[in-house]
Amino acid sequence: MNRTKNQGVVWITGASSGIGLALTKQFLDAGWKVLASARGQGGLTPLLSQHEQLHFIPFDIADASQVSEVQAALMAHTDVLDCALLNAGTCEYLDMSDTDPDWKMMDRIMSVNFIGLVNSVETCLPLLKKAARPHLVGVSSQAVQAAFPQAEAYGASKAAVRYFLSSLRMDLKPFNIDVTCLMPGFVDTPLTQKNTFDMPFLMSADEAAKRMFSALDSRPFEYAFPKRLSAILWAGRHFPKWWLAKLAPKPNGQ
Ligand SMILES: NC(=O)c1ccc[n+]([C@@H]2O[C@H](COP(=O)([O-])OP(=O)(O)OC[C@H]3O[C@@H](n4cnc5c(N)ncnc54)[C@H](OP(=O)(O)O)[C@@H]3O)[C@@H](O)[C@H]2O)c1
Repeated sequence: MNRTKNQGVVWITGASSGIGLALTKQFLDAGWKVLASARGQGGLTPLLSQHEQLHFIPFDIADASQVSEVQAALMAHTDVLDCALLNAGTCEYLDMSDTDPDWKMMDRIMSVNFIGLVNSVETCLPLLKKAARPHLVGVSSQAVQAAFPQAEAYGASKAAVRYFLSSLRMDLKPFNIDVTCLMPGFVDTPLTQKNTFDMPFLMSADEAAKRMFSALDSRPFEYAFPKRLSAILWAGRHFPKWWLAKLAPKPNGQ
């Protein structure tokens, strides 16, 4: 984000690992004050001793009872938030070949990825409203562009995030708050390192954060990347029978 004159204060959730940690470094390098949240400090620990501009505020985003405490912690560090980057999230896959599929996972994933993001918006909105040109950014996923097997929980939670943000974009217009939905493709982080399937165009967290940071400059409604993956997912959406044949698990023995 090319803000040589007006670097501000950003709150990043999920800042202790992967994309959030890489974004934290991007903002710090550009001179921003970063308020970083996650349940634990994780990968932030070495950065916290190196950067006076970085502060850790613990937050379990799925726990609505923490909202006012976290809001107070944010307010102890700043009077305004120029940007809130709501990135925290998790992923689990539903296994229908299991005789007893883990349906409770739907609740777990929605509680973090969707309700957790809603809790985060509630937390930061009063501080965003005080900024001159506030920017609210949420992280969805390219997974919402076409269905993936076993992604019933993850994909639904990220589709909910996308819709929530596009609706918020309208309702926050009177407050002059820009809303962006980021939709990364496959990024090499602890979240994807457990995947056993092919991840086309997999990129490093640093590369993803660089692209996201620079895309935020123009405050797009949505930013989906890489474009090569978007093109394949477009085909999957428009040719659903082909997509199904390509991705659906085959019956045993085929
Ligand atoms: N990696 C990809 O390919 C990819 C693609 C598209 C979208 N995304 C999205 O990008 C975001 C970041 O993912 P990542 O790949 O960087 O994963 P990651 O390395 O596993 O990092 C996830 C971050 O979220 C935090 N988090 C998880 N549950 C939380 C909770 N209940 N409360 C607060 N913080 C929580 C984690 O910290 P704690 O565990 O300490 O709380 C961690 O900082 C997620 O929303 C993910 O869905 C990732």
